[in-house]
Amino acid sequence: ASVVQRLWRGRVSAGMLSPRLQRAMKDYVSANKHHVSYTGHRNAAQNAKELLCQMKAQAWLRTVDGSEQPFSSLGWARLVPSLPLEKLNRRQDRGSFKTCAVVTSAGAILRSGLGKEIDTHDAVLRFNAAPTEGYERDVGNKTTIRIINSQILANPKHRFNTSSIYKNVTLVAWDPAPYTVNLHKWYASPDYNLFGPYVEHRKLHPDQPFYILHPSYVWRLWDVIQGNTQENIQPNPPSSGFIGILLMMALCEQVHVYEYIPSMRQTDLCHYHERYYDAACTLGAYHPLLYEKSLIQRINTGPKGDLRRKGRVTLPGFSTVNC
Ligand code: C5P
Repeated sequence: ASVVQRLWRGRVSAGMLSPRLQRAMKDYVSANKHHVSYTGHRNAAQNAKELLCQMKAQAWLRTVDGSEQPFSSLGWARLVPSLPLEKLNRRQDRGSFKTCAVVTSAGAILRSGLGKEIDTHDAVLRFNAAPTEGYERDVGNKTTIRIINSQILANPKHRFNTSSIYKNVTLVAWDPAPYTVNLHKWYASPDYNLFGPYVEHRKLHPDQPFYILHPSYVWRLWDVIQGNTQENIQPNPPSSGFIGILLMMALCEQVHVYEYIPSMRQTDLCHYHERYYDAACTLGAYHPLLYEKSLIQRINTGPKGDLRRKGRVTLPGFSTVNC
């Protein structure tokens, strides 16, 4: 069976990857850039309900709120939005988030014709620099939340301050801190400097909701992936896709994820908006993508046909899961 067919069944192993991707994975494991040392359990046998309950308990949404050093001394309690991210779905002008869509940037969404379906959701989450303009038929045009990694803020090529992609949406940024979550070390040397651009943006646009995820949130998500996988996963943060899915499970009653587990349109085209081909974008090299995807497939409640035809996974929001 192909890697994708195995993903559809939720049974994966690094051994299914090409020699090149296996090598890349091994190099990341030995480099251990973020000094990960996992001491928790490894139990790959939990059922869907147990998995959901573990996620709900372990992955409660958390952002940098200015209550901890060094951010408290820097006055971040007044800098961050007064409405916490966890309550975004309770804003009167938006209504609640009953149904939400998470739209990954995978090339496989091209020629899907899913745009209309995606736009019917109460809230739509997109990633990084993924555009809607020119791709509406396949990806829709509604964006409620955009998750951006620190490279978007730090690299001038993304024109973060001027591009319309980052306006009129809720922004959620993240950057990998050391696994031990030492905020002083993180502030002094983030992967890419997001703090300066964040402060500047908050001052210029105080009314735009803009959050930075707490690094402990990101690493607790990683722990859930490793804790439910027998193999050693890459000691690097989960992909933005996995972070976005769990974020929406915290905010919404039901979540549809598009082209995370690839459909039959599966392709090595990395992003729908770029002519760049690399299987690592779908199966992972730096990020533990293969394992993330297997975990999401294990809690998928949608029919198999949705996966094949739409690359669509259906997940319950945490508020609807009774543990
Ligand atoms: O590349 P980027 O991180 O901006 O893409 C957003 C997310 O979409 C990824 O973090 C990953 O979870 C998902 N993705 C994917 N397959 C691809 C490209 C992206 O699953 N080919």
